[in-house]
Amino acid sequence: MKTLTAKPGRSCKPPYVPASERLTLGQLQDAYDELAHGYEKRIWFDQVVLGVARQRRRLMPRAHGKILDVACGTGLNFPFFPAASEVTAIDVSQHMLDVARQKAESLGLGIQTQVMDAENLEFADGVFDTVTSSLSTCTFLDPVQALSEMKRVTRPGGLILLLEHGHSNLGWLANLQDRNVLQHYQQNAGCRWNQDPLQLVEEAGLDIMESRRFGLGMFYAIVAGK
Ligand SMILES: C[S@@+](CC[C@H](N)C(=O)[O-])C[C@H]1O[C@@H](n2cnc3c(N)ncnc32)[C@H](O)[C@@H]1O
Repeated sequence: MKTLTAKPGRSCKPPYVPASERLTLGQLQDAYDELAHGYEKRIWFDQVVLGVARQRRRLMPRAHGKILDVACGTGLNFPFFPAASEVTAIDVSQHMLDVARQKAESLGLGIQTQVMDAENLEFADGVFDTVTSSLSTCTFLDPVQALSEMKRVTRPGGLILLLEHGHSNLGWLANLQDRNVLQHYQQNAGCRWNQDPLQLVEEAGLDIMESRRFGLGMFYAIVAGK
């Protein structure tokens, strides 16, 4: 395993996963297919202790109208979408979608699910009132491309709601993330946990309207427009 050198306290970019170590889309798909049934147990600490579940409950009810949930995973956002909305959910992993479909059925929600690559959304421009995505930019091969696609399919005046994680603003934790970036990536299905989600959102040309950090400064709730 390669060792990446963290540079604590320096004003340069933190160490990222080198291109040679990155998973392909097919490998990511396989990794999430395998993880699907244990996924919710695996993210229990983030959900319960670091407050992700609470923030889903707070952010996702702001979605309205025609909603697209990108990289929906097992459908953890589904319970919080308003009852009157029309939801489409996509993910690259069929097995994650199978769990999501079961969740939608058990909640009595008529949610359309489809296997699709977030970086090449098969929807026309501006067809959704709200696009949501959670814990996903850390996993996308090209997060700026995926965010640009979310922007493209959102109608003018629509909302993009993101719940993401990245580099903490606590020095000790940011250093720990940097030191373990490759190990974390390899053990967590291609999760790059020391990115800066706000920077990615800006690079994709979205207009950040609100953002707040929580969960030891590692998580971000972002409301953006196009
Ligand atoms: C960490 S999980 C997050 C799942 C869910 N959104 C949540 O909040 O629990 C990341 C998800 O992104 C999906 N994913 C990764 N790359 C993708 C891509 N290019 N297109 C669509 N889904 C993708 C994975 O299959 C996985 O379900």
